[in-house]
Amino acid sequence: GTVYPFFGEHQAGIVTPAQDRLHFASFDVADITRDELVGLLQDWSAAAVLMTAGTPVGTYGAVNGPYTAPPDDTGEALDLPAAGLTITFGFGSTLFTAADGADRFGLAGQRPSALVELPHFPGDMLTEALTGGDLCIQACSDDPQVAVHAIRNLSRIAFGRASLRWSQLGFGRTSSTTTAQVTPRNLFGFKDGTANIKAEQSDVVADQVWATRDDGAAWMHGGSYLVARKIRMTIETWDRTSLKDQEAIVGRTKGEGAPYSGGTEFSEPDFDATGQGGAPLIAADSHVRLAHPTQNSGAQLLRRGYNFVDGNDELGRLNAGLFFISYQRDAAKQFVPIQMNLAKNDAMNEYLRHVGSGLWAVPPGASTGGWVGETLL
Ligand code: HEM
Repeated sequence: GTVYPFFGEHQAGIVTPAQDRLHFASFDVADITRDELVGLLQDWSAAAVLMTAGTPVGTYGAVNGPYTAPPDDTGEALDLPAAGLTITFGFGSTLFTAADGADRFGLAGQRPSALVELPHFPGDMLTEALTGGDLCIQACSDDPQVAVHAIRNLSRIAFGRASLRWSQLGFGRTSSTTTAQVTPRNLFGFKDGTANIKAEQSDVVADQVWATRDDGAAWMHGGSYLVARKIRMTIETWDRTSLKDQEAIVGRTKGEGAPYSGGTEFSEPDFDATGQGGAPLIAADSHVRLAHPTQNSGAQLLRRGYNFVDGNDELGRLNAGLFFISYQRDAAKQFVPIQMNLAKNDAMNEYLRHVGSGLWAVPPGASTGGWVGETLL
C-alpha cells in the first residue's frame, strides 16, 4: 500500500495525491501552559509518524500492553495498511489571540498577518458549532476506517489538553491534485478538480500554495493556509433542474467537463466566445467564469475537498454537500476575493448554503525526528 512520509519540508496531505476519504477535526485547546501545548504537538506528531506508517500508536500498540490497563491504541486499524494516510495539522487564529483577546501561550506576536478572521460573505448561514477552532487535523486515507482511527486516537491522546469541537467525514474526493489522477465528480454530478492546481505545476505551487519567510511570519516558511467550508447542497432542487440549466450554471458540460466555449476537458475556457445574439457562451453568472483566475487578479487555489452525506433532515432530504477545503499562500488574497465574487454573483448559490467555516495556518513539515509546530514554539 501507499505510505507518505510524515517528515519533510512540507506537511503531507496538501500536494500529495488527494485520497478517497476524509476525517477532518477541529479542536479547542484547554486551559494549559505553553509547555503542555508543546507536549501535545510532540505527542500528536509521534503518533502521526506511527499511524502514517501503518503502525499502532503508543509504546505497546493495541494488544501488547499490560493486561490490566486500557490499550495504547484503540485497535480498529490493526491488520489494515496505512492506505495512503496523511495527517495534516493547522493552527487557528484563536491559538494566538483568544476570543477575549488573551495571549494564552505568548504567541500573539507571532500571529501571521494572513491568519485573519474570514469576513462574513453574502448568504453565509454559518453555525457556531461548525466554525473555527484553535487547532485542526485533516486526516485523509483511501480507507475510511484508517482516517477515523487517526482522528480518534489523536483525540484520545489530547485528552485533558484539547477536545473535539467539530468534525466531518468525507467520501469521494472532489479534486485531483496531480495530473495522474482522473477527475472525480461532486454530488451535482459534475467533474470537480479539472482546473485545480496540480502538484506538477511547480511554479504555480510555489507562487500560490507555499508561504515563505518573506510573507511576514518566518516560522510559516514552507507552510500554507487551509480554508474549510461546509457547504450544504440542496440536491433535490438541483435534480429538478434541466441539464441545460445545470451546465449553464457551472459553465462546463456535464459529461466531458469541457468549457461551454468548446474543446475538451482540459481546454482553456474562452470567456469572450459568444453565441447566437452575442450572448457569452460561458454565462456571466457561471461558477467557472466567476472562480477563474482571470476574474480574480490571478488568484488560484489548491482545492482538496470531499463529498459528504450526514444522514437526512426531518423533511426527508439528504443532508448532503461538499466539504470544501482549499490551500493557499494567503487566504485574504486568494480564497476571500474568489469567494466574495462567488457569494455575490454565482448562479449556483441558489443550490448552496455555507454552514461551517474555518481558517488555519498549516505550518511547514516537521524535520526528521522533530514535531509539527517546532518552528513556532
Ligand atoms: C471549479 C463545483 C464551491 C472555487 C469548479 C467546477 C465545478 C465546481 C463543477 C469546474 C471543474 C473544475 O475546474 O474543478 C463547485 C461546487 C461547489 C463549489 C459544487 C459548492 C458546493 C467553490 C468554492 C470555491 C470554488 C466555495 C472558492 C471560493 C473554484 C475554482 C474553480 C472551480 C477556483 C476553478 C475555476 C477555473 O479556474 O476554471 N467548481 N464548486 N468552488 N471552483 Fe468550485
